[in-house]
Amino acid sequence: MIILGIETTAHTFGVGIVNDQGKVLANAFDSFTCNQGGMILDEVAEHHKKVAEKILTKAFAEAKLSWKDVDLMAYSAGPGLDPVLYTGYHLAQAWSEKQNKKLVGVNHCAAHLSIGKVINQLKDPCYLYVSGVNTQVIVDENNKYRVVGETLDLGLGNMLDKLGRSLGLGFPAGPEMEQLAKQGKYLELPYTVKGMDVSLSGMLTKVQQLIEKGIKKEDLCFSVQETCFAMLTEVTERAMANANKKELLLVGGVGANQRFCEMLKIMCKERGAKFYKVPMDLARDNGAMIAWEGYLRKETQAEVNPHWRVDEV
Ligand code: ATP
Ligand code: FE2
Repeated sequence: MIILGIETTAHTFGVGIVNDQGKVLANAFDSFTCNQGGMILDEVAEHHKKVAEKILTKAFAEAKLSWKDVDLMAYSAGPGLDPVLYTGYHLAQAWSEKQNKKLVGVNHCAAHLSIGKVINQLKDPCYLYVSGVNTQVIVDENNKYRVVGETLDLGLGNMLDKLGRSLGLGFPAGPEMEQLAKQGKYLELPYTVKGMDVSLSGMLTKVQQLIEKGIKKEDLCFSVQETCFAMLTEVTERAMANANKKELLLVGGVGANQRFCEMLKIMCKERGAKFYKVPMDLARDNGAMIAWEGYLRKETQAEVNPHWRVDEV
């Protein structure tokens, strides 16, 4: 069985093709970029419409396949940016009607988890999903995702990007903060774990005050990383112990951070568990993960839901 997936929740338009074993046959994409300001949603939607045919053709060329080989289509139904999601949905609908293919709508966050699981051939991992918006510890309970811990306010990536802006760094700030942190010394910051959840807004306020006092960038970056990563490592460890999980899968953009991976790896080793992550091309927003999630959910129905949580899937 061949599945074609279309990703359009944010700035990336992607088309991926996978088979029913989770083998990625193509993963083409084009991301909206701009020199100034943030993303203007209508411009992003226009971008996706403009590149759609080109990216579809590229994906078919990569996979050495054509429409006649496709058995099922999937698109991301949410969560995501409202007008951009509808652009993807309407494109997917038009292609599916024209080619007479079945179409399923899938959850973008669940797709990030599923592709990581199949690529690493995992049985039953604990998931740590840390992106711009999302900071969640997730386990699978009887084929349903359960969020066992999460941020009570900001996602970690967004928090790092806000600090980056105050520190005069580029966007996204994570990679540059990681480099600065290598020259930094530790200073104490608010460590806020509430049960299985974490809170990051207190730290954001505190660090913004320290920036105004002229504390060195390097020391702030190092201390923010050490504190936030330790908070997440603590709740993840507890989740793994409670749910008796022997595998940890880290997904989301903050997972690119080497120090974060190192801390999680040590925690896993100490409890006889194994740590996994996702290769870059499948970790970013992409069509292949949507295709694979579509295969797993081929019997389900969805339209568009900009606020669709992973535990509602
Ligand atoms: P989603 O829609 O799945 O929530 P997203 O678009 O919000 O995704 P991702 O692309 O998964 O986010 O991740 C982007 C975030 O990752 C940014 O906030 C960025 O600063 C952060 N990031 C990227 N590289 C690093 C790094 N090396 N260290 C820390 N954070 C990083
Ligand atoms: Fe994403």
